[in-house]
Amino acid sequence: MEKNFDIEKLERYIIDNSLTYYIETYGCQMNAHDSEKISGILSSLGYSRAQDKDKADLVLFNTCCVRENAENKIYGNVGKMKQYKKHNEDMIVGVCGCMMQQKGVADDLFRMFPFVELAFGTTNMQDLPEMLYHIIFDKERIKLIEDDKIAEENVPMKRTPPPLSTVNIMQGCNNFCTYCIVPYVRGREHSRRIGDIITEVESLMKDGYREVMLLGQNVNSYGSEFDRVTFPMLLEEVAKTGIDRIRFMTSHPKDATLELFETMARHDNICNQLHLPVQAGSSRVLKAMNRRYTREDYLSLIKTLRSIIPDVVLSSDIMIGFPGETDDEFEETVSLMEEVRYDSAFTFVYSPRKGTPAAEMPDQIPEEIKQKRIMKIVALQNRITYESNLKDVGRSDRVLVEGKSSRDEGFIAGKTDGGKMVNLRGDISLVGQIIPVRIAEAKKTTLVGEIEGR
Ligand code: 5AD
Ligand code: SF4
Repeated sequence: MEKNFDIEKLERYIIDNSLTYYIETYGCQMNAHDSEKISGILSSLGYSRAQDKDKADLVLFNTCCVRENAENKIYGNVGKMKQYKKHNEDMIVGVCGCMMQQKGVADDLFRMFPFVELAFGTTNMQDLPEMLYHIIFDKERIKLIEDDKIAEENVPMKRTPPPLSTVNIMQGCNNFCTYCIVPYVRGREHSRRIGDIITEVESLMKDGYREVMLLGQNVNSYGSEFDRVTFPMLLEEVAKTGIDRIRFMTSHPKDATLELFETMARHDNICNQLHLPVQAGSSRVLKAMNRRYTREDYLSLIKTLRSIIPDVVLSSDIMIGFPGETDDEFEETVSLMEEVRYDSAFTFVYSPRKGTPAAEMPDQIPEEIKQKRIMKIVALQNRITYESNLKDVGRSDRVLVEGKSSRDEGFIAGKTDGGKMVNLRGDISLVGQIIPVRIAEAKKTTLVGEIEGR
C-alpha cells in the first residue's frame, strides 16, 4: 500500500454515496471491543451503520479461532455472502480478527472466496481507511496482517451506549497454555500505560458510563514490562477515579495474589466478582496444559479469596477432553466443581488447534467420551448455578439497570454487584441508575427482583 492515498477523496465518496457498514463479531469481549474500534474508524470516515447485512456496502467478519466450531461457522457465513454480492456488485466483503493471524488462513480464504476483497489482522484496524481507498479506487484486493504490532492509542471508538463499557488494558498473552491459540494470534503481552487507561475511564465517566470492564487475556500480569507496576496498582488508580463499578477479566490463577484480593476488598466500587478459570481439576492435566498451578494451589487460592471477600461471586472456564484425560482425571474436575461451587462457569470441549503443542499430543479423546463428559459437567454446573441463585432469594442488592429485559414486557434488567443478571418490573427511565433491589425469585441462570422501598 505504498501508492497515494487521499483520505478526503475517500470521505467524499463515502458521504456522497451514503455508504453503510455491518460488522459480525465472533468470540470474546476483546473482539467485541475491537469491533467498537472498527465502528469508530468507519463512522469517522462517514459510514453509517446498516441494520441488515444484505443491504450494507461494507460487511466485515471479526473472527475467532479459539475453537474449531467457531471457525467452521465463520467459513459458512462468509461463503453465504456470495449471493448478496450478486445483487450488489459494489459491496465490499472483508474478514479480520484472530483467524486472520493464523499462518496461511487469509491466503486460503482469498482462494476459496474470490469475492472477499479485504483481510486484515488484529492490530491493523487503523490502516482500514487506506485499505478501503485502494479497494474502492484502485480495484485492489488487500491483505494486511502484521505480527506483534502494538495497537495505537487514540483510535476513535463507537461504543455501545452507557451505562457499561469495556476498557482494554493490555494485548496479547505470554502464557502458552498448550491447548490455546491466543498467544500465536494475539502476540506477546503489551500493557497500556496507566495514565492512558485512567484518561479513558475518566472520559467514559464524563460521557455517562457508570461501569467499566477492564480487559486483558491475563490481567494479573498487567504491567510486567514496566518497573514496579502491578495489576492491583492499576485497579487502585481506577477505583480512585470514583467510577461506580469496576470489573475485570480474565485472571490467571497463577498470578492472582493476596494483594489483588485485598485491593478488591478495600474499594466498594471494585465489584465482588472474580472470573478465575481453573480449566481442569487434575494436577497432572494442569501440568500438561502448562497452567503452572496444581489442584491444591488453586483450592488454597479460593480459600484465601473467600476469607477476604466472603460473598465473592466466582466463575470459571472448564475444559474437558484434553489429550490423555482419563476417567479418573475427569472425575477430579467434577469433584473440584463440587468443592468450589462456582456461581457460574463456561464449559468447553477441548478442540485441537493447529500449531499448538496439545494438538500433537498422543491419546486424543474420542468424540463420544467428550460428549458424555461435557453433558455431565453442564448438568452439574446448571444445578450448582441454580442452587447459588436460590441462596440469593430474600437478599438485598444494588442493581445497575442496563436496559429492557429480553424476557418479559414491562421488565428491565441489570446486574448485581457480583455480576448476576436480575430481571425486575420497572420503567425504562431507570436505565443507567443503580437501584436497591430485593431478590424475589431464582431462575436457572438469572434472578427476579423487586425494587425496594416501593
Ligand atoms: N479447546 C477448547 N477450549 C479452549 N479454550 C481455549 N482454547 C481452547 C481449545 N483449544 C477455552 C479455555 C479458555 C476459554 C476462553 O476458551 O477454557 O479459558
Ligand atoms: Fe490462552 Fe492460557 Fe493465554 Fe488464557 S492464559 S489466553 S488460555 S494461553
